[in-house]
Formats: sequence, structure tokens, C-alpha cells
Amino acid sequence: MNKKTISIAIDGPVGAGKGTLAIALAKKLNALYVYTGAMYRELALACLREKIDINNEEEVLKILNKIYIELKNTDYGVRAFLDGKEVSDEIFKPHVSKMVPIVAAFPKVRREMVLRQQKTAKDAMRKGKNVVMEGRDIATDVLHDADIKIYLTADTGVRTQRRLKQLEERGIKTSFNEVLKDIEERDRQDKERSASPLRIVEDAVVIDTTNDTVGQTVDKVIEKLKEKNLILKG
Ligand code: DC
Repeated sequence: MNKKTISIAIDGPVGAGKGTLAIALAKKLNALYVYTGAMYRELALACLREKIDINNEEEVLKILNKIYIELKNTDYGVRAFLDGKEVSDEIFKPHVSKMVPIVAAFPKVRREMVLRQQKTAKDAMRKGKNVVMEGRDIATDVLHDADIKIYLTADTGVRTQRRLKQLEERGIKTSFNEVLKDIEERDRQDKERSASPLRIVEDAVVIDTTNDTVGQTVDKVIEKLKEKNLILKG
């Protein structure tokens, strides 16, 4: 039996290839792609702009309830808008990236983000659209009943190379060692935070992308979807 709509949860650490896989799958399955990291990034940027005390959960929450976060998917990736103004590159700048784990650690912030993400998925599926959502807590918190839960991982060195390339493409100058240090620190923060730490759920499909091309990873997921009778075989 083929269900009318499919929901795909993709979790994993920085640079595992979540975004690339999610965009490719969304194209193939005509799905809505939701990059949840951009939402946390926009919140951190808004807090910096408002010069609030970023360590104060209530103040951060106030900002979250005030701002308008909008993500638009294009053929070239996601464009992020904060209160109607494009911030696609700014949210990746190192001074913003550094602040994101702080806002992402607050339970009340996460609860609000999860509600928004669940609503986005529900609205899309109600309209008959498939959903591919990517982040750290998608299988654990946002889409508990996703049709398929993928946990992507890769060697730290490979993840560092990928992140370095992404940052260079955004015009951000940095070095391998700097990115490696940042990735190790973010892995630690993602896994050790008490509110929704990054973890592998029992029914996750774990895929190591270290030696895969994007096409190979996509094929592995498509095979799984066929095995689960979520898309037609052949
Ligand atoms: O996916 P990304 O690296 O752009 O995410 C930016 C930060 O946001 C990262 O520190 C992890 C956090 N994040 C999160 O806590 N939960 C999500 N669903 C997505 C991102």
C-alpha cells in the first residue's frame, strides 16, 4: 500500500550531509524541505541584533515570539528571511554560529520551535505534500511518527572538509583546523545538552556517508522507502 504522503526525518551531526541529502530527496519526491537549523540560526542572529542577554531564556523567548522567520526553498538551496529581510549568508557567519547552541539549549525555545516545525509539516501533508525535515531532534521530538527516520553520520575529517567547502562557498574565510575545532565543540554541545540532545532513535536507519557520493546516499534511502512500501518498487 502506498500512503498518500511521506514524511522523512533526517538527523545527525554537523557536516554529515543532511542538507545535501534532504534537498536531493525533496526534489525526487516533490517534498517540502525544512531546514530547522536555519530557524535556530535566525533566532541567534535576532538576539545579537537586539543586543539582549543571550544567556537569559526568557529574553530569548521574547525575541522568538517577536520575530518572523521565513524559509524559502529554491533550486540553489534555502533562502532565509528574518522579518522580511534576507539573512541567508549572515546566519552562517562565525559570530552567529557561535551563539546558536546557546539559544538551542533552552527547553522553552525548543518547545516553541518544535511546535512550529510540527505545524509546518502537518500543513504541508494536509495539502498532499511530502515532507523532508532535517535537524538534530526531528526523529526524537518533531516527527515521532515519521515514515522513515534517518541518522546520517561521517568521519570527523570528512565532515570538516564538507563544512569548510560550504563556508568558502558563502565567502567565509577560515581554515581546516578552525572548522575541525568548531565541529568537535558543536558535536559536544549537540550531544551533551540536557534538552533534546542529539541521539539515534531505535528505529533509525543509520547511514555513514564518509565514502558515499550524494547519489549513493540518496539511492540507499530510496531503497529503504521501497522496502517499506512507501514508494513504488521498480
Ligand atoms: O544544522 P545546523 O548546523 O545549521 O544547526 C545550527 C545549530 O542549531 C546547531 O548548533 C544545532 C542546532 N539545531 C538544533 O539544536 N536542533 C535542530 N533541529 C536544528 C539545529
